[in-house]
Amino acid sequence: MTIDHGQISRILETAIVAARLAGQKAMEEMDYTKATFKNSEELVTEADTKCQTIIIDRIKETYPDHGFIAEEGGDGGIFKQTPRGTDDIWWVIDPIDGTNNFAHKLPLFSISIGVMSEGKPIVGVIFAPALESMFTAFEGGDAQLNSRRINASEDDLSDLTSIGLDSLFKEHVPEWAQEIIKRTMYRNLGSAALQMAYVANGSLIANINTGTKLWDMAAGTLIAQRAGALATNWKGDSLFPVDLNNYEGGKFDVLVANQKVHPQLTEMLKA
Ligand code: IPD
Ligand code: CA
Ligand code: CA
Repeated sequence: MTIDHGQISRILETAIVAARLAGQKAMEEMDYTKATFKNSEELVTEADTKCQTIIIDRIKETYPDHGFIAEEGGDGGIFKQTPRGTDDIWWVIDPIDGTNNFAHKLPLFSISIGVMSEGKPIVGVIFAPALESMFTAFEGGDAQLNSRRINASEDDLSDLTSIGLDSLFKEHVPEWAQEIIKRTMYRNLGSAALQMAYVANGSLIANINTGTKLWDMAAGTLIAQRAGALATNWKGDSLFPVDLNNYEGGKFDVLVANQKVHPQLTEMLKA
């Protein structure tokens, strides 16, 4: 299926508008929203569902026949609607990435919208409303932050460069993580999508996530790649194509890194 430049531009425009609308709602709700336990490990707020509805309703105004995979499906399940027309296009949505931050009124969170065709991202939008930062990319085009081109860094691991991690370490800290903690300024911003965007921007040299769902990474991997970074699994293999018809919330180990450090990190992650 070929999607021309005009179609991609319209899809990108729709994703940006939907992300802005949801971002506005999230900012309005942040001081008031109620958090409940989604499961033993995760919180969810009323705003997550409201923002997701805003995003999907806006997209459906333009693309009623496209498919949807979104995080909040009710009863802890995912929201999924397969494409109805001939276009095999799916919108993959995390309405609030960084819910734990959001629920504690820490305004580091983002709205992540990836659009996928043939199992691969073709458009990505990550919007951090409190930071007024709109990261975008599309297949064949530049990665941008607020309409300006961004590039991944060429920096090496050092005392002065940062790698994004997540809160993985419940039982013990594995050797690879100990090395990163010793050798770099490691960071956990609480939003995997935003951390991937910051690799695209050169602020982080890499980001390492495990337990990553498709909606955490569909936009971020494309934005990072279009900025010149590499986005793979921990072994260095491609994450895509993903079989979207059969995707039910499976997890991925994701490494997004600038080209200089990616080979070193895949070696370290083998340990
Ligand atoms: C989470 C955040 C977090 C990451 C988790 C994700 P959510 O997403 O991205 O940084 O470590 O793996 O599940 O639940 O806030 O959408
Ligand atoms: Ca998420
Ligand atoms: Ca979320």
